[in-house]
Amino acid sequence: MLVSAKEMLEKAKAGKYAVGQFNINNLEWTKAILLTAQECNSPVILGVSEGAGKYMCGYETIVGMVKGMIKCLNITVPVALHLDHGSYEGAKACINAGFSSVMFDGSHYPIEENIKKTTELVNACNVLGISLEAEVGSIGGEEDGVVGAGECADPDECKMVADLGVTMLAAGIGNIHGKYPANWAGLNFDVLGAISEKTGDMPLVLHGGTGIPEEMIKKAISLGVSKINVNTECQLSFAAATRKYIEEGKDLSGKGFDPRKLLAPGFEAIKATVKEKMELFGSVNKA
Ligand code: 13P
Repeated sequence: MLVSAKEMLEKAKAGKYAVGQFNINNLEWTKAILLTAQECNSPVILGVSEGAGKYMCGYETIVGMVKGMIKCLNITVPVALHLDHGSYEGAKACINAGFSSVMFDGSHYPIEENIKKTTELVNACNVLGISLEAEVGSIGGEEDGVVGAGECADPDECKMVADLGVTMLAAGIGNIHGKYPANWAGLNFDVLGAISEKTGDMPLVLHGGTGIPEEMIKKAISLGVSKINVNTECQLSFAAATRKYIEEGKDLSGKGFDPRKLLAPGFEAIKATVKEKMELFGSVNKA
C-alpha cells in the first residue's frame, strides 16, 4: 500500500533524522530502492519527475508498477510515491492517477502566484489525504550545460507558504541538482536556521542530495531537514557498474548479453548507494 509522506516526515522531524527520496527511472530502479528500504527497515519516498513520468509511459503505469511490486516483493515499510518538481497540471494528473504525494514547484512564479496555486493544491490534497511539498527559492543546477547557482529562500516567504498547510517545504539554501562545481560555496546554514526558526515543526526538504559532504548533511538534519532528495548519485553508480561489466567483456561471454545479467551490476550499485544514504540520513530501522 502507498502512504502519504506526512506521518513518516513528522516522525523524522521529531526524531532528528531524514527520509530519503530516491528518484526512479524504470523497473530496476524501483525494485532496487524498494528492496533496500525493506532490508534497512526504513521508510522511503519514490520520486518521479515529469520527464521520468513520460519515459515510464505515464503516471498510471507507474502507480500500477509500484503497487504491483509492493505486493509481489512483500514490502511492508512505508512507501510514498511522489511527484518531483511538478507543474500545477502535473500535480493534478498525479493526484488523479493515484500518487500518494506530490510536489508543486511554484518557485519560478512571483510569490503571490506561488501562494495562490499552492493553496488550491492544499485543498485538493487534503480531501484525499495526499501529502504536498511546496518550494520557495529555486534550486539551481545544470540545464543544457549551464550550471545555475542555488538561490537562497526568503525565510518570511517560507513562513507564508508553510502556513498554507503544506506537508513539507523545499527551500533553497544554496543547494543545486546534479554534481556540485568545484567552487561551490556550500549550504547556507544561516538561512536554513532562520527558515527553521520561522517554520517551526514543518519538515524541510533538501534537494540536490548528490555530492553534499556528510558533515553538511548531518548539520542540515540537525537544523530541521527531514527529507533529502537523491537522484544523480544513483544514476552515476548505475552507469559506473554497467560500464565496468561491458569493459570487462562480460556481455560477450556466455549469456552475458541477457538483460537480466547485463543490468544486474547496476541494480546492485543502486542498492548500495541507497543503503549508504539511508544509513547517513539515519532512517534505518525507523519504518
Ligand atoms: P540530485 O540529482 O542532485 O541528487 O538531486 C535530486 C533532487 O533534488 C530531485 O528533486
